[in-house]
Amino acid sequence: MSQTEIGLIGGDCVGKRKRSCQQPRPDRRRRALLGGLTGWILSPILFRSDPARAAVGDGVNASKMRAQAGDQFVFKTGARKGEVITIADVAFGARPLVAYPYDPIEGVLRNGSRLNQILVLRLAEDSYTDKVRARAVDGVIAYSAICTHENCPVTAWHSDDQLFICPCHETHYDPKNGARVVSGPAKRALPALPLTVKDGVLTAAGGLTGRVGRRKRT
Ligand code: FES
Repeated sequence: MSQTEIGLIGGDCVGKRKRSCQQPRPDRRRRALLGGLTGWILSPILFRSDPARAAVGDGVNASKMRAQAGDQFVFKTGARKGEVITIADVAFGARPLVAYPYDPIEGVLRNGSRLNQILVLRLAEDSYTDKVRARAVDGVIAYSAICTHENCPVTAWHSDDQLFICPCHETHYDPKNGARVVSGPAKRALPALPLTVKDGVLTAAGGLTGRVGRRKRT
């Protein structure tokens, strides 16, 4: 495997922990809010009644909650940081995008925890397992961006083998097969996020399929 085949996922800030990388600029956030307004107008009742959507009680910081059914996604980094991601934004065969979930009903960007980062990509559907295909929309699939070994962000992409790579200890994950571990020290696949599309906007069809990041220490 040559290093030249491996690219960083999601632009300049991925993997860094600078505050500027984690907090969308106010103007971008406004754009995200405006972008989500359409979804808010068109589909609020639908997702309020979705049983897969967790209730937000008093004192719960919704920005720290993991992705919920009905959430949209916004670019985490790059020139379009803070903008809502449409299905057309996810180019076939391109490097995965890094996104934060965005609740268009409550206007909440879920960037309160770095564990909420999501990888979004689009590969050939006929390369997917049946389970992965069932969670995809037009070939677009999504996974937690947090390594299940020691919680590093998964920031590299092997374009020839189409594998995610965690740079911390080199775990490789196969997104075509449920992000199962191909090699490296991690023991669990990255949790997946089922997708749908609403008025062209990429939208979570349910919650994550498993716990994000490493298992709780006992
Ligand atoms: S934290 Fe990802 S391989 Fe160790």
